[in-house]
Amino acid sequence: PTRLIIDTDTAGDDCFSLLLGLRHPAAQLEAVTICNGNVAFDQQVENALHTIEVAGRGGEVPVYLGSARPLMGRWEAASFHGSNGMSEMVFPPARQRPESSHAIDAIIDLVMANPGEISIIAQAPLTNIALAYLKEPRIAGALKHLWIMGGTDNAVGNVTPAAEFNFFVDPEAAKIVFGAGFAITLSTWTLTLTSGSIDAEAVGRIEALGTPLSQFFMDVTETPRKVAFARYGETISTHPDSLTCAMAIDESLILESADVVVDVEVGGETTRGWSSVHPPRLVERWEDRDANARIVRRADTAAFTDMLISVLK
Ligand code: BDR
Ligand code: CA
Repeated sequence: PTRLIIDTDTAGDDCFSLLLGLRHPAAQLEAVTICNGNVAFDQQVENALHTIEVAGRGGEVPVYLGSARPLMGRWEAASFHGSNGMSEMVFPPARQRPESSHAIDAIIDLVMANPGEISIIAQAPLTNIALAYLKEPRIAGALKHLWIMGGTDNAVGNVTPAAEFNFFVDPEAAKIVFGAGFAITLSTWTLTLTSGSIDAEAVGRIEALGTPLSQFFMDVTETPRKVAFARYGETISTHPDSLTCAMAIDESLILESADVVVDVEVGGETTRGWSSVHPPRLVERWEDRDANARIVRRADTAAFTDMLISVLK
């Protein structure tokens, strides 16, 4: 099985990535680490603990608290997933409580104790990953693979015209991570719109499962589905985080990719958080650099949908 740490700002689709890690037979979720992002930090912790419980894995996978603030950016909760990140769904506190050690130490300890074995799904702003790397730079070589959900493929963002949410919230962290030497696969918002969005028919198939987990899906995705309809004029459910996790579990979902140089804009007034993506050695001087990431350009939406449905059954 693929041994995973999921670093998450648990709200909306973060939950379904967790469900894949918790319930897919080819995944072994070793730890969940919480990072600032979608909604209030403590709420994200409760959302993660509740998701673990709903998955029938309560008490089995440790949850560690990471950085509640970006390195330099201003934290702002997004309303995309509703104020609690769960489309206002009300649920009791889970029995499981978070661990007392810090997420950054948990990441370092797990990765250094198992060189070449652990992969991270980074589906939140990259604060925790950057801080773990700054504390123990050897994790960049010891980690098997870093799967990052963030940025765009030189296209329009979802927070500003230039920036996607995870990179916009902590561009400095993203810049540090792309300069660190990790083996990275980048799953962008651009990819989410082309390959990681499921249509009304697929949502109908999930609803028709009639299981507690399919109901959980319908409840948690209610607000984002409405926002996506208003924004894109179609009934779609967007799955940036769970698509990223799905590709980590089964790489055959990746249909098209390229090795590229990624850098992140930290200074721009209108471009802060923009991910610059270009082929290696494109021109001389500063862009004359080696690839530091593989970017996914097309994924198998049908196979992804089937995988999602398989864990909601
Ligand atoms: C990303 O931002 C968050 O709202 C989602 O959880 C996802 O990780 C998409 O841009
Ligand atoms: Ca997320």
